[in-house]
Amino acid sequence: MAPFPQLRLRRLRRTEPLRKMVRETRVNIDDLIYPLFVVPGQRVKEEIASMPGNFHLSADQLSQEAEEILRLGIPAIILFGLPETKDELGSAAYASDGIIQKAVRDIKRAAPDLIVITDVCLCQYTSHGHCGVIDDDYVNNDKTLELIARTALSHAEAGADIVAPSDMMDGRVAAIRAALDDSGLHSTVIMAYAAKYASAFYGPFRDAAESAPQFGDRRSYQMDPANVREALREVELDIAEGADIVMVKPALAYLDVIRKVRDAFNHPLAAYSVSGEFSMIKAAARNGWLDEKQTALEVITAIKRAGADMIVTYYAKEAAHWLTSG
Ligand code: PBG
Repeated sequence: MAPFPQLRLRRLRRTEPLRKMVRETRVNIDDLIYPLFVVPGQRVKEEIASMPGNFHLSADQLSQEAEEILRLGIPAIILFGLPETKDELGSAAYASDGIIQKAVRDIKRAAPDLIVITDVCLCQYTSHGHCGVIDDDYVNNDKTLELIARTALSHAEAGADIVAPSDMMDGRVAAIRAALDDSGLHSTVIMAYAAKYASAFYGPFRDAAESAPQFGDRRSYQMDPANVREALREVELDIAEGADIVMVKPALAYLDVIRKVRDAFNHPLAAYSVSGEFSMIKAAARNGWLDEKQTALEVITAIKRAGADMIVTYYAKEAAHWLTSG
């Protein structure tokens, strides 16, 4: 190979059309998944303080929102619910007329083509804020499985296309698959939050979802941020149990995990760019310290370059505008 001065890598960077021609990674609107927070009440559209531009929406607001999302070309949403009441066992999570179950029915009626993903977890629904059943201050794995499976089944019965367990109990994917198949819901997709870390980047979300644990933390079930080999074991298990899509979460601080999972498995891979990743950019942009559009698109591109096929991001709507307007 001829060295410099014949070889000049800058040649292919000279103009935007040239740069575009050799670009290796392209983010498409098709890659994006937008999170929505559903709250009780009527005519509620309240901005979430820690996540500007994201809203608490009551059921009556959802059809308009769903239509706007579809119009932007975003193919999928992931739903989070804030229930009217919480209890020890999170029973509002698996009530057939629960907040998510109703929301799914409403959205599917208004925008049947929008892919509806539901977050399957108990933490917004339990009085203690943990993702499972508490026994002696410890989250009991096996008792939780039944409730997680019931929750997923109730979402699927309401019409969810994809259920996404985020609780990190061992065995939940198998429990959900069995519950779905026993009810004839063979086509409901499972997107497993397979490698979900105990991350400080969830801070703004816990405000948004009122789901902070009332004692302790989630480190006895979510993963240690220091581990990557363990992430591969988690993904392997979820695939063995029947996950159709696997997820790494958070995304930006875990690009190496995304890459490793991409290289080791052939399943579709999602990455969740979590609330803290969004709020960091938002806050810095509001202070004039970062260019919001450039930074947000750079992060989304990096997540895709690391190997994610789809990206859950609170920037989905803004990104769709940016990607459309060029
Ligand atoms: C529920 C759940 C959480 C997030 C998604 N599902 C919070 C948590 O595990 O504490 C975080 C999402 C975000 O920060 O954007 N288990």
